[in-house]
Amino acid sequence: MLEVTEVSAGYAGNDVVHDVAFTVAASEAVAIIGSNGAGKTTLLRAVAGLHASSGGTVVLDGVDISGWSAHRISRAGLAYVPAERHLFGQMSVAENLALGAYPSKPDSAQLDVVFDLFPRLRDRRGQHAGTMSGGEQQMLAVGRALMAKPKVLILDEPTTGLAPKLAADAYTALGVLKGEGMTILVAEQQVPLALGLADRGYVLEDGRIELTASSAELANNPDVRRAYLGIA
Ligand SMILES: Nc1ncnc2c1ncn2[C@@H]1O[C@H](COP(=O)(O)OP(=O)(O)OP(=O)(O)O)[C@@H](O)[C@H]1O
Ligand SMILES: [Mg+2]
Repeated sequence: MLEVTEVSAGYAGNDVVHDVAFTVAASEAVAIIGSNGAGKTTLLRAVAGLHASSGGTVVLDGVDISGWSAHRISRAGLAYVPAERHLFGQMSVAENLALGAYPSKPDSAQLDVVFDLFPRLRDRRGQHAGTMSGGEQQMLAVGRALMAKPKVLILDEPTTGLAPKLAADAYTALGVLKGEGMTILVAEQQVPLALGLADRGYVLEDGRIELTASSAELANNPDVRRAYLGIA
């Protein structure tokens, strides 16, 4: 469903992501794990067309979307949820969700899909997004992305700013989405949560993929355990 080949990207001519390749099959969940500054956000933004890549190709559902604008990529079926969420704080929950469908009109059946996944959003549809709690804002950011009925959902550190219980809840919701067949790519530092969701993972270090394996293998890998799970 998503095939990334030799993507490089950086800032002011200096690459911080080097020749990264990975794939996400339809209905698969894949984690990119890596510590602060590894290049996760740069990589995901490059895939989503939000950051210019200096090389490589991105193929979405058989279509080469390399170099496309972010808007065109999102219309082609790739939704990106930034760690900062970028909600419209002065607008209501319902208005934020409607914007997620733009330029299409919000589909009431899809709105029900989102509300069934996140009943809290249904209860609070009239509330300003900016007054929602951190966990609720996270649900709204995911819900807004789903309004576009994406083929692939990309999330950058969805646990950012969430207390452990809420971070776990966020991954529970992603697990439900995966169970419904959604294709998910997630970048995460909270490695146990990410590996709990994902079928497979890639370890990104200094902008390069250093290791790839099934989530079970990564969770048992001594290097991964030492570096990311704090287990000697
Ligand atoms: N706007 C920018 N200008 C210059 N350098 C940047 C910019 N944004 C990120 N970088 C650098 O690129 C490298 C990768 O950063 P990136 O944000 O992609 O990492 P990350 O894996 O997402 O980290 P984190 O887990 O902290 O979010 C870092 O060295 C960072 O300092
Ligand atoms: Mg980041």
